[in-house]
Amino acid sequence: MAKKKTVFICSNCDHKEPKWLGRCPDCGEWNSFTEVSAEQVRATPAGRDIKVSPVQSINDIVTTPDIRTPSGIGEVDRVLGGGIMKGSAILVGGEPGIGKSTLMLQLSGKGAEKENVLYVSGEESPGQIKMRSQRLGVTGSNLKILADFDLSHILTELVKLKPNLVIIDSIQTLYASEAGSIPGTVGQLKFCCHELISWAKENDSSIFLIAHVTKEGTIAGPKVIEHMVDTVLYFDQSDSELRILRSTKNRFGSIDEIGLFLMDSNGLNEVTNPSGIFLEQRKDDIPAGISIAAVYEGSRILLVEIQALTVPAKGSASRVYSDRIDSQRVSRVAAVLEKHGGIKFSDQDIYINIAGGLKISEVGIELPLALAIYSARTGLSLPTGLVSAGELSLAGEIRNVSHLKRREKASIEMGYSRFYSPVPGKEPEKIKKVLNNIFHIK
Ligand code: TYD
Ligand code: MG
Repeated sequence: MAKKKTVFICSNCDHKEPKWLGRCPDCGEWNSFTEVSAEQVRATPAGRDIKVSPVQSINDIVTTPDIRTPSGIGEVDRVLGGGIMKGSAILVGGEPGIGKSTLMLQLSGKGAEKENVLYVSGEESPGQIKMRSQRLGVTGSNLKILADFDLSHILTELVKLKPNLVIIDSIQTLYASEAGSIPGTVGQLKFCCHELISWAKENDSSIFLIAHVTKEGTIAGPKVIEHMVDTVLYFDQSDSELRILRSTKNRFGSIDEIGLFLMDSNGLNEVTNPSGIFLEQRKDDIPAGISIAAVYEGSRILLVEIQALTVPAKGSASRVYSDRIDSQRVSRVAAVLEKHGGIKFSDQDIYINIAGGLKISEVGIELPLALAIYSARTGLSLPTGLVSAGELSLAGEIRNVSHLKRREKASIEMGYSRFYSPVPGKEPEKIKKVLNNIFHIK
């Protein structure tokens, strides 16, 4: 009888080899290969039927409209692009303690007002989840809790309950006996996520997969499953107490939107009007080196305070220290100021910060950044109550940016009396003239 064909699979990274090897050539793990039959590899995981799609002309493909359900949390919907898409898989990453479980339990509570929700926790006991839900005011018989990490049990319950919304807290705690004997490996993570996402897609359920991320980056980190999901959300904290939810991948929407939350003793509260949340409260004249920018972040206007400091360069070459605004942008703005603003920076180190810790990449930050750097270098403060927005060209001109009216309105609403920006339709002004005008307002 012919010998059955077998392959060897690395239990750490799923790499396949025709022969047993002591060390995986892909991930470098020792003694990680196990022998499985070729049929087993091809077999449909967990005995599911895969719907085979025929080849069709693009003209014949019939589409169904996107079905989105509002999550009940506006800031989450904003980041998702208008609600939870039916049958979608969403990865929610963040450092331990940031509030992922809290956010997902609140979301489950909202979801359970309309449909069946299953919250699977491999980290906390039902009692702990109940205590947290009481604190958050989350109730409802449509919300089912399963404290388990064994994938086969979880899949059995999913088949029984057919929930519309599933939360897995967290993917790093899951374990499947088919995916090798070592829990927490890349192989386990990929296998478990693949099974759960496939179940969700076949049953039109939406699934949120919580993943822990540490600053150093974990070995079995969520990066390896980002390609399997439709949307990747990251939850992190600014320098202030503010929690920021942002998306780095979204098949169903833009990745420009951010969701803002504040944590208190009753969970996460949405920050729906954030224009001024990043501003320092100042009563007196503002110190030199400070400038307020009206930036367009996602679909909202935020006012942020740029802080600049210039000091004689410590080394032979001057340097820029800036992690909130791209250092290259800071260098470019300083170079334009040197060429067209008549002030020298080449022997100066430049430090830039944004109060509140938000990172800004929007182009409208350039004029306010130029004003902050100029103010820091000259020691001249900006006039009180001034907010600005504009792009700075290499030729030293202030160029138009989008949503000027909205930026101006947000500034006025926050109590600022002056808004400086290019005038649409008019010839761009030179930075030299703008500096003269602004720094001579009394
Ligand atoms: P948690 O959701 O458990 O974080 P993660 O799942 O990302 O690890 O949140 C943990 C922190 O939030 C913890 O330090 C306690 C705090 N917290 C509050 O301040 N208020 C609350 O209502 C809740 C539930 C948690
Ligand atoms: Mg948690």
